[in-house]
Amino acid sequence: MSVTIKTLEEQKKMRIAGRLAASVLDMISEHVKPGISTDKLDQICHRYIVEDLEAIPAPLNYRGFPKSICTSVNHVVCHGIPGDKKLKNGDAINIDITVIKDGFHGDTSRMFQVGNPTILSERLSRVCYEGMWLGIEQIRAGKRLGDIGAAVQRHVEKNRFSIVREYCGHGIGRGFHEDPQVLHYGKSNTGLELLEGMTLTVEPMINAGKRTVKLLSDGWTVVTKDHSLSAQWEHTILVTGSGYEVLTLGAKDR
Ligand code: MF3
Ligand code: CO
Ligand code: CO
Repeated sequence: MSVTIKTLEEQKKMRIAGRLAASVLDMISEHVKPGISTDKLDQICHRYIVEDLEAIPAPLNYRGFPKSICTSVNHVVCHGIPGDKKLKNGDAINIDITVIKDGFHGDTSRMFQVGNPTILSERLSRVCYEGMWLGIEQIRAGKRLGDIGAAVQRHVEKNRFSIVREYCGHGIGRGFHEDPQVLHYGKSNTGLELLEGMTLTVEPMINAGKRTVKLLSDGWTVVTKDHSLSAQWEHTILVTGSGYEVLTLGAKDR
């Protein structure tokens, strides 16, 4: 698939989809506590997306994914499948929400610390968050994809964490995963030139240990091979002439 440029009308729809996806994370945050299962989090989000937002949870049945959200706990890198396992004090969980509204996708994820976080987990999450924002801040028409990746990589590696290579950000719109691929490492001033009206995600996954990952036999769950902690944050971004617009800001960040 080629890269799509969104018209002003399509940008409006992306803005709405993005805002709705962020509202799901705002809504679920108070439920992320010791004792709740990831299935329960899925169930609450599913109901909210379908009934309150009148939107579609994009992951459900996407290439056979069985649930409405992704829940990735501790050493799970991404695409964790909600299940009956309960969160416990000291866990860190990434909740990744994608909704479809009026034909367009909004995709965003955040880290949540369950109860009292460990120092390492908090630092890993913070460095990942900072890396995501440094990548986003590179974005404007005329810049290149490599500028995003290089900014993320510089920050993460300076802090002696590793960057997952097998999964990346992506174009987004009518499609969940459109071109281009947005790598979270690379060389500045290389790669595709960003144009006004492109919409894409920045969603670095970083590990406390080695960058190597493995896919579990369920066909979805991606874990760190050395079982070290992993963290991820994600926003959906619109490229503008003067810079960028973050479409998935939560209520607190707007
Ligand atoms: N939301 C993920 C992303 O950021 C994709 C999840 S695909 C699923 O691209 F099938 F696992 F839901
Ligand atoms: Co994404
Ligand atoms: Co996502």
